[in-house]
Amino acid sequence: MGVSWTGFCCWLLWLGFCGAQITFPLRVSSPPTRAQWGPLLNASRENKQNAPGLSLASEPGGSINFLAMVDNLQGDSGRGYYLELDIGTPPQKLNILVDTGSSNFAVAGTPDPDISTYFDSEKSSTYHAFGIGVSVQYTQGSWVGVLGEDVISVPKGLSSNFTVNIASIIESENFFLPGVKWVGILGLAYATLAKPSSSVTTFFDSLVNQEHIPNIFSLQMCGAGLASSDRGGSLVLGGIEPSLYSGDVWYTPVTEEWYYQVEILKLEVGGINLNMDCIEYNADKAIVDSGTTLLRLPQKVFNSVVDAITQTSLIRGFVSDFWTGGQLACWDKAEKPWTYFPEISIYLRGVNSSQSFRITIKPPLYIQYILSVQGSMDCYRFGISPSTGALVVGATVMEGFYVIFDRAQKRVGFAVSTCADVGGSQVSEISGPFPTTDVSSSCVATNLLREPIMWIISYVLMAMCGIILLILIILLLLPRRHHQDGEVNDASSLVQNRWK
Ligand SMILES: *[C@@H]1O[C@H](CO)[C@@H](O)[C@H](O)[C@H]1NC(C)=O
Ligand SMILES: *[C@@H]1O[C@H](CO)[C@@H](O)[C@H](O)[C@H]1NC(C)=O
Ligand SMILES: *[C@@H]1O[C@H](CO)[C@@H](O)[C@H](O)[C@H]1NC(C)=O
Repeated sequence: MGVSWTGFCCWLLWLGFCGAQITFPLRVSSPPTRAQWGPLLNASRENKQNAPGLSLASEPGGSINFLAMVDNLQGDSGRGYYLELDIGTPPQKLNILVDTGSSNFAVAGTPDPDISTYFDSEKSSTYHAFGIGVSVQYTQGSWVGVLGEDVISVPKGLSSNFTVNIASIIESENFFLPGVKWVGILGLAYATLAKPSSSVTTFFDSLVNQEHIPNIFSLQMCGAGLASSDRGGSLVLGGIEPSLYSGDVWYTPVTEEWYYQVEILKLEVGGINLNMDCIEYNADKAIVDSGTTLLRLPQKVFNSVVDAITQTSLIRGFVSDFWTGGQLACWDKAEKPWTYFPEISIYLRGVNSSQSFRITIKPPLYIQYILSVQGSMDCYRFGISPSTGALVVGATVMEGFYVIFDRAQKRVGFAVSTCADVGGSQVSEISGPFPTTDVSSSCVATNLLREPIMWIISYVLMAMCGIILLILIILLLLPRRHHQDGEVNDASSLVQNRWK
């Protein structure tokens, strides 16, 4: 699920205690070669998706104002991007983390040492308690709370108020962290993931139902190339704001509506296909999640990507701790390490399933500038980490793109973001269409395969059936033998005892 602050925790560690762990200048054996680059196909414009029927911004209607939503987010990838909401009557202004990897709307309901404020439901005349307990566990952190509902408005974009389910957080663990500036979480994924059950209407469904806005939202996160700072971004509720992207929007189908699960067909590092079975890229699912800091790859894929980067970057002397996130790598300020690293491309299934498109992240997105030391060195971390449960397209990738969550048409769109430039050059690219003849017709494992627990249950059930069958056979055989032999022998009674 949604939230993961691996990056931020390590960042604190580095700052606080790990000065000694910083790796000083890395040696580069020779300039990187571009000879290995694969042939670049031209993007054909015939597949341009013009988003039929979608509300484009700049044509505001009613209570909704798209332009007011531009720059309505603050924060960064390490600590999350958050939106200001007015909750209750009179309104209490609270900052809420935007998370596309979970589906509950939850707000601190009691004081917590790590946050400065909380939602005091007793002070809201419109709050209704349901008296139902709820708890949610994220990749990192968890909370326990109680369900209720209250009115809400979005100061930057939606002036009218609407009623949503709110979980008031009573108790939490590793959820609020020192330095975060938000006090709640806005889960924007599908109701399937809502706790305690999918019958809890999500924030966005309530918004769509009550305000009659199109069932779509889009997200631009603007932290590319910057050290942790409040750079911000935009969450456009109900549409697409053309000023936030350039070029075409490419869409990939949502393969199942729970997380925003998509299908990844291929990965390239420096233009070289990793050539793994595409099932590996979607093991056990591939999701787009704004609440995860890094690009997280299934362990096998991660190893393969690190190997490929090591080979392509031609940098010697990298300690393995850099790749696992335990160390920063530092270079002289004058030297920009980004030129030593390859681009990484992710191929996504197109809406036409026999076509794909690729989103490309350039080094500034995944070799992330973190801090300066001694005034002369700049230090960077690796923005990709291994994962056991999923491939997660987190902030590392999302910061390169304007990402459109088109729930109405069950698809996620990507376009090059207008804020994805570092030092004047664009750090993301999109191109397509590409044929999918070289990949399997489905890279997504079946439901059963994706749920290891289901396999365990079915094996246990099969084993139990086998045992029962065995007992039945033994029970059937024994009396007959008894009848035939006229006596019960030791061996058979032993078997009988054992099974009883
Ligand atoms: C790509 O397009 C350019 C012009 O737009 C053309 O000169 C070039 O040959 C094309 N390359 C390929 C591989 O089609
Ligand atoms: C809803 O919004 C209106 C203004 O649009 C405001 O006057 C009213 O007090 C709000 N109602 C609640 C319950 O917050
Ligand atoms: C899908 O793409 C294939 C290959 O590019 C093309 O032949 C086919 O006409 C497309 N189908 C649709 C419905 O556009």
